[in-house]
Amino acid sequence: MQENIAVIFAEVLIMIIDITKKTSIKGTITVPGDKSISHRAVMFGAISEGNTEIDGFLTGEDCLSTVRCLRDLGVEIILNGTKVFIHGKGPYLQKSNKELFVGNSGTTIRLLMGILSGQNFETILDGDDSIKKRPMSRVIIPLRMMGAKLKALEDNYAPVTIKGGNLKGITYNMPVSSAQVKSSIIFASLYANSETIIEEPYKSRDHTELMIKYFGGNIDIKDNKIICYPGNKLYGQKVIVPGDISSASYFIVGASILPNSEIYIKNVNINPTRTGIIDVIKKMGGNINFINKRILNNEMTSDIVVRQSSLKGVEIGGDIIPRLIDEIPIIAVAAVFAEGKTIIRDAEELKIKESNRIKTIVKELKKMGADIEETEDGMIINGTGFLKGTIVKTYKDHRIAMSLAIAGLASDGITKIEDAECVNISYPDFYTTLNML
Ligand code: S3P
Repeated sequence: MQENIAVIFAEVLIMIIDITKKTSIKGTITVPGDKSISHRAVMFGAISEGNTEIDGFLTGEDCLSTVRCLRDLGVEIILNGTKVFIHGKGPYLQKSNKELFVGNSGTTIRLLMGILSGQNFETILDGDDSIKKRPMSRVIIPLRMMGAKLKALEDNYAPVTIKGGNLKGITYNMPVSSAQVKSSIIFASLYANSETIIEEPYKSRDHTELMIKYFGGNIDIKDNKIICYPGNKLYGQKVIVPGDISSASYFIVGASILPNSEIYIKNVNINPTRTGIIDVIKKMGGNINFINKRILNNEMTSDIVVRQSSLKGVEIGGDIIPRLIDEIPIIAVAAVFAEGKTIIRDAEELKIKESNRIKTIVKELKKMGADIEETEDGMIINGTGFLKGTIVKTYKDHRIAMSLAIAGLASDGITKIEDAECVNISYPDFYTTLNML
């Protein structure tokens, strides 16, 4: 590897990465396909009539878990690099002869539960140690109201057993904004005999709503309310997956904080329900521009240019949180290099991600010398503009690993990242791209 990042394979599949300080990052990059859109494209392709072709599919472990589970449910899926061909089965899938393993993927388990609620057979869904700790009752409750039969450990944790069929529409006011819960109900609504109305407190990412329309479904959206009509028929489509803004966010922050940096990121999804990170970095004083905006299968996409600038602390909370929920660890890194105080509140949902991301990012940045404190629903960071390399842990959480790698580039000395291979969940080429810059 090149001089600033050394990789040591301590034992099979356990990777330790050494990162040393970098003065600037410069160059043109592409980031992998959007994770949320990739999951949804294979799921919609699977339950549509006819064939679906996907280009730019994310071949990270999470999306491959979705492919594996759908194959187990009898769907023919051919993967060729980032191209995917799906021979749609229509709404009704085939009973799996084994339990479905969703790996680390919350999107796979929760969205598939929606589809399985419409299937007249029993399926068991299980996942890795992290998935087994993540709450499923948020999906179990509305799917039960619709008529599906579900069992789970303590009524909340995987393995989840689900037997579907005979669903009715419901009106559901979601207690928390969650695109996974909302999408699961939208998928189940395809099998219901009456209208389903879903309302969430703040709008979360709306890729499912945009894609169901793209595949020919009929839904209405009024602010945070979605009305799903019964009898929707879906037809296979060609989907081009734009780059993932969550993956781009590491380079957006890296280029914003490292002196004289300038990067051009091609082809990134800028769906407004995902661009909270752009709004926040701009509010902090960041220099970010969109170039060549276009729409790809209902999704707004653009190239993004980021130049280094002096950042200032901000307060973040309320309705912007679902628009940047996955980017809070990297925003914490930006805040360390900003002048003044950053306060992040209303972000309790971070506690139930792949790791408890409030605890894990605060703990690891503190080890590196950050002035950062955990709060009940977020964190407070006093920007000091300085970090010192040390040994840090990822907790096998891909977003913590990538945030710490960017922190490492801006730190004095060597940052050693343990269990660094977890980036494979959403961004297998992350360290290669980082090296290239
Ligand atoms: C996702 C929704 C979000 C996000 C996750 C992907 C999706 O989770 O954190 O990485 O694809 O629907 P929640 O729905 O739990 O907020």
